[in-house]
Parts: sequence; C-alpha cells; structure tokens
Amino acid sequence: MGDSSSASGLARRYFRQTAELFGNNLYLDSVPDLSDQDGSLTLDSFREQICKCVKCPLGRTRIKFVFGVGDPHADLVFVGEAPGRDEDLQGEPFVGRAGQLLDKILAAIKRSRDEVYICNILKCRPPDNRTPHQNEIESCMPFLEQQLNIIKPKLIVALGATSAHALLKVKTPLGKLRSQKWKWQNFDLVVTYHPAALLRNPAFKRPAWEDFQWIDKLIAEA
Ligand code: URA
Repeated sequence: MGDSSSASGLARRYFRQTAELFGNNLYLDSVPDLSDQDGSLTLDSFREQICKCVKCPLGRTRIKFVFGVGDPHADLVFVGEAPGRDEDLQGEPFVGRAGQLLDKILAAIKRSRDEVYICNILKCRPPDNRTPHQNEIESCMPFLEQQLNIIKPKLIVALGATSAHALLKVKTPLGKLRSQKWKWQNFDLVVTYHPAALLRNPAFKRPAWEDFQWIDKLIAEA
C-alpha cells in the first residue's frame, strides 16, 4: 500500500491541505477521516474540514455554512454568488425564489438538483445580501477550487456576473461572456444569467433558455 493511502500519508496530506487553505490557523478539534475507499478526499470530509471557517468576517455573522448540494460526482456544476437569507437559514444553496426558478430550469433540461451539483462563490451569507467583497471572494475561493477538483465536473456553469467574474478573473459584462466556452483550470465553463436576474427581468428568460439548451447539448457531447 502506497504512502498516500496509509494513515500517516493521509494525515500528512490533511495537514498540507489545511495549511494551503488556512495558513497556520486550524479550525478543527480533531483530524477527521479524510479518505474515500480509494484514499482520496471526499466532499463530505472536506466539508467537515472547513465548515467552521472564520477566515473572513462573514464566518461570524452567518447562521449556517452553505457548502453545496447534489451529486458529488456530477457532470454539471452550477456556481452562484452567495447564500441569501433562506440559504443561510437552511444551510443549502438556492432554496429561495431564485432556487425554485433554478429547479424549474433544471426540470426543463430533464434534470433535478440531485443529479447536478449546486454551490456558490461564497459559503456564508453577506449581510443584507450585498454583493460579495473582493477579500471575501479571495478568502473563499480556495474552498471552491478544492470542491470543484474533488467533483471533477464535465461542465461548470457560472450563474451571473459575480460568479463569472470571480471564476474567470475578468470584469467583462455578462452579455459578452455568454455563448462561449471558457476554461477554468482544466474544466470547461460557460456563463449564463443568475436566476434572480431572470426574476427581475423576464426579458432575459428567452436568452437564458437558449443558454440552457446549449448547456444540455454540451453535456450530451462531453
Ligand atoms: N443566490 C445565489 O447566488 N446563491 C444562492 O444560494 C441563493 C441565491
């Protein structure tokens, strides 16, 4: 058995990953069991590692840490902006009005939230649902990076400009980012409207529908 799957190998990897994510600060009382059957880090164990995070001030004001939900091996991952009030209360992303619309959009491409993975740029709610600050995005991004590298989706869908800008590190308007395939690390990424924008502006519903038809096609071809 190789070093990476031995107890000492796992512990070493745990401390290395923790140091990468938190610097010298540890947020755990004990070292969790990190291993999947093949010795790899699982989403559940990663969640355990980070769910008490107070790296940024949002860790002190949140009610619940909103890690993500869905199939840990999903082909398709949706990344929104940050939890809102309903998500903060329930500890699950996209459960409010925008989430209900996302569920309907998923149903239209014959998928459910159990068959995809849904998460956000930030794991904690910004007060009054304000737009995330850059320091909060930078603080939380290593968590999302690790999460996406565990899931290894075929396609990442950035929902809205905040998500797209945080992932692609550009400030290009959303309208110019749509309808193109981007790369985020080694993964394909596309950009579409945030469901909350569709609720505010029904004129976006038709182009969003076209985006989702294309997303369905991309997954079928991947
Ligand atoms: N908006 C988001 O961006 N994410 C959520 O989880 C809910 C609303």
